[in-house]
Amino acid sequence: MRIVTIAILVGGVTAAGAVLAGGVAAPSVKPAAAASLRTVASFDGIKDPAARSLALFEEAGKVIQSPRCLNCHPAERSPTQGDDLHPHNPPMVAGDSGHGPAGLPCLSCHTAANVPTWGDRIKSIPGDPKWALAPAEMAWQGKSLGAICAQIKNPATNGGKTLAEIHHHMAEDHLVGWGWNPGEGRTPAPGTQAQFGALIKAWIDTGAKCPKA
Ligand code: HEC
Ligand code: HEC
Repeated sequence: MRIVTIAILVGGVTAAGAVLAGGVAAPSVKPAAAASLRTVASFDGIKDPAARSLALFEEAGKVIQSPRCLNCHPAERSPTQGDDLHPHNPPMVAGDSGHGPAGLPCLSCHTAANVPTWGDRIKSIPGDPKWALAPAEMAWQGKSLGAICAQIKNPATNGGKTLAEIHHHMAEDHLVGWGWNPGEGRTPAPGTQAQFGALIKAWIDTGAKCPKA
């Protein structure tokens, strides 16, 4: 299982997976059974609510710190790409609006939905109606999970949202949901958006504790 996953991460080289797995021809291995998330119930054994809250957020952090989210929540005012967070090619800046510089908005390439390509290297162009770079105060790249958690809770850095609104955004927002439907050639975020939403809800219900630093 692990071997197949590695093969997929290096670009879907399923043949390598088959060889490493012992030379047995893999019957058309499907792309990335994405990493999973633990269920909320699996944290019931942690009796202290604060400790449970922390553990729940750390689990949700597998999504928050996945490349699908980080690429659009970068440290600089430019998006990054791929699982290695390399600079956006072609070079791109957020512009004042987050929607790109005058004359070259994100939507000139990123349309309302993922679009498959015939390219070898780029299998699809990702898309969503709200495609834009997250604002500077929502930068996550290079930050600890604790720092990101504090930002997400703080209305001054989360777009003025209450915790209930944060939950709604995580669980329902279509652009967030793109993380699990990122288009051909990209690894989806772990688990499902529903599981992620449930973890965030349980985190809030247990006091929304943040990891230290
Ligand atoms: C295409 C770029 C893009 C992607 C991909 C993206 N975001 Fe965002 N995100 C934004 C933008 C733009 C905003 C600010 C506007 C808004 O709130 O919708 C934002 C705001 C947020 C906020 C609210 C503010 C905050 O930081 O507390 C959360 C939470 C969030 N995103 C979570 C996620 C998660 C989780 C993922 C991955 C599953 C993700 N985002 C992927 C662009 C993106
Ligand atoms: C000239 C066309 C073009 C413009 C304009 C453009 N992009 Fe992209 N972008 C692409 C292409 C093509 C890809 C896919 C690259 C790949 O998969 O290797 C991409 C990929 C991305 C990704 C990576 C998704 C991932 O997780 O790998 C993000 C994030 C992104 N763009 C954000 C933006 C934002 C935000 C803007 C506007 C500020 C923007 N892009 C403007 C062409 C463009």
